[in-house]
Amino acid sequence: MILLDGKKLSDEIKNNLKQEVLVLKSQSIEPCLAVILVGEDSASSTYVNSKARACEQCGIKSLVYRLDVNTTQNELLALINTLNYDDSVDGILVQLPLPLHINKDIVLESINFNKDVDGFHPFNVGILNLNLKGGFLPCTPLGVMKILNHYGIALQGANVVIIGASNIVGRPMATLLLNANASVSICHIYTRDLKAYTKNADIIIVAAGCPNLLKEDMVKDGVVVVDVGINRVDGKIVGDVDYENVSKKASFITPVPGGVGPMTIAVLLENTIKSAKNRIKK
Ligand code: GUN
Repeated sequence: MILLDGKKLSDEIKNNLKQEVLVLKSQSIEPCLAVILVGEDSASSTYVNSKARACEQCGIKSLVYRLDVNTTQNELLALINTLNYDDSVDGILVQLPLPLHINKDIVLESINFNKDVDGFHPFNVGILNLNLKGGFLPCTPLGVMKILNHYGIALQGANVVIIGASNIVGRPMATLLLNANASVSICHIYTRDLKAYTKNADIIIVAAGCPNLLKEDMVKDGVVVVDVGINRVDGKIVGDVDYENVSKKASFITPVPGGVGPMTIAVLLENTIKSAKNRIKK
């Protein structure tokens, strides 16, 4: 079994990005990411801190807006509008989930799609679905693609099963893999016989938020497993895969933590720098 070491790969990516930031700064461009968190969800707060810290490591400026849980939708839209028109801001990220009184679709659509480093704006979703060039691709699915490519895992014709159909991971993941000529199945909470899918899969990507969902008897020998889950169980971070037992059958597997998580952040920084480079073209 070979470990898909997302931490190591993300460190390599971040080291390269540091150099790119130096070049941009020599051209008087300081890449800048604005991150907005509404409310005090502790997991979201941790993610936002990690994103800001990673920016700092690479020389990217980060602006973190921690808004009260009672912030109105209009107040949030007003902040996004200000950032949309601020030429010193290259990326805008609204941490999800948002409180229930705020309509996330309206919020995501209000972000200037040229600063949508999360790749969640319908314009960027359309670019991905039409397999066009340009635009921003969502960070977690693109991070997974980079891990698979880095370890030389063949995608063309591969039988890939994705568990979870979220807009953040499952759906864009399926599209990226389809664009890479994989044969993709998306399973979800209404899938009748999950094992029937996973048993035949060459590659399984689990993004369900459910500890121990993927078990040893559900996979074939030599399977490639990517665990996108981040769950806190008894104070410990675990993924969605019964790692101890599934890893005995897998040819490649991501650890949690240290697999997909750090790659998500590395891609976010990459997207921010890509946006900053667009300032030169203007
Ligand atoms: N919540 C969970 N994952 C993400 C992500 O990739 N981006 C944002 N904005 N919120 C998230």
